[in-house]
Amino acid sequence: MTRLIRKVSYSQQLFSTAAKEFCEIAEKAIARSGQMTVALAGGSTPKGLYELLAQDPYRSMVDWSAIHVYWGDERHVSPDHQDSNYRMAQEALLSYVPVIPEHIHRMQGELPKASDAAEAYENILRQEFPLSSGDVPVFDLILLGMGPDGHTASLFPGTEAVHESSRWVAAPWVEKFQTHRVTLTPVVLNQARHVMFLVSGREKANALHVVLEGPPDPDQYPSQIIRPLSGRVLWLIDEQAASLLEKTTFQTQ
Ligand code: 6PG
Repeated sequence: MTRLIRKVSYSQQLFSTAAKEFCEIAEKAIARSGQMTVALAGGSTPKGLYELLAQDPYRSMVDWSAIHVYWGDERHVSPDHQDSNYRMAQEALLSYVPVIPEHIHRMQGELPKASDAAEAYENILRQEFPLSSGDVPVFDLILLGMGPDGHTASLFPGTEAVHESSRWVAAPWVEKFQTHRVTLTPVVLNQARHVMFLVSGREKANALHVVLEGPPDPDQYPSQIIRPLSGRVLWLIDEQAASLLEKTTFQTQ
C-alpha cells in the first residue's frame, strides 16, 4: 500500500485538490480500460467535491460517458429521502453531468430488509465487473469521508462489518443511529486502485490523530481498516482536521 497525506489550508482548497485528483484518475483509467469505476461517499465533505466537479473547469475535463458510478455506502431509506446518499449525489453532481443512466448503480436502500439490499448490490457488482471466479471487484477510485468517531463508509466502531473478510457488501445495524446501513466491506474497499479520504474540520482532529498516528485499533477506529493491498490511499485533510497531528509527514503539492 502507498499512503500519501496532503494537507491544505481550508476546505475549498481540499475540494479543488480532490477534483484535480478525480480528473487525473479518471483520465488514466479511461486511457487504460475505456472506463472509470468510482464509488461515491455520503457526507458533507464529499458533497463539496461533487459540487465542484459539476462545474467548469472540472465538468468539462471528464469524459462522463465513460464513468460508472457506484456507492460505498447508503442509508436504509428510499432514493428520494433527504438522508439518501444517492439523492445527495444526484442533486450535487449527477444531474449536472452526462453520465449514462445505465452506468449509475445505486444501493437499494428502500428494500424492507437492508440485508436484501446488500445481497442485491453484491449481485450488481458481480454482473458489472469482469471477474474470474474468486476475484473481487477492483474500483478505480473509492471516495471516503471519515466521521468524528473514525468511521468510514458505514463501517462504524464496534460493528462486525469492520472485520468482514468474505462478503463484499454488508448491512450492519448502527446502534448510535438506531438503523441499518448498507456498505461495501473492507474486502472490496481494500482492492481499490485508488482510495481518497476527504477530511475537513476541527471535529475530526481527535479521530484523525488516532487513525493516522495511534496504535492499530480498527474496531474502534474503522478508518484504520482501509489499507489497500496494492492500491494508493490519498488522505486530503485541511488544517483544522490536521491540528492534532504530531509526527505525520505531509506530501507537498
Ligand atoms: C455517510 C458517509 C460517511 C461520511 C462520513 C463523513 O453515509 O454518512 O458515507 O462515511 O462520509 O461520516 O461525513 P462528513 O464529511 O459529513 O463529516
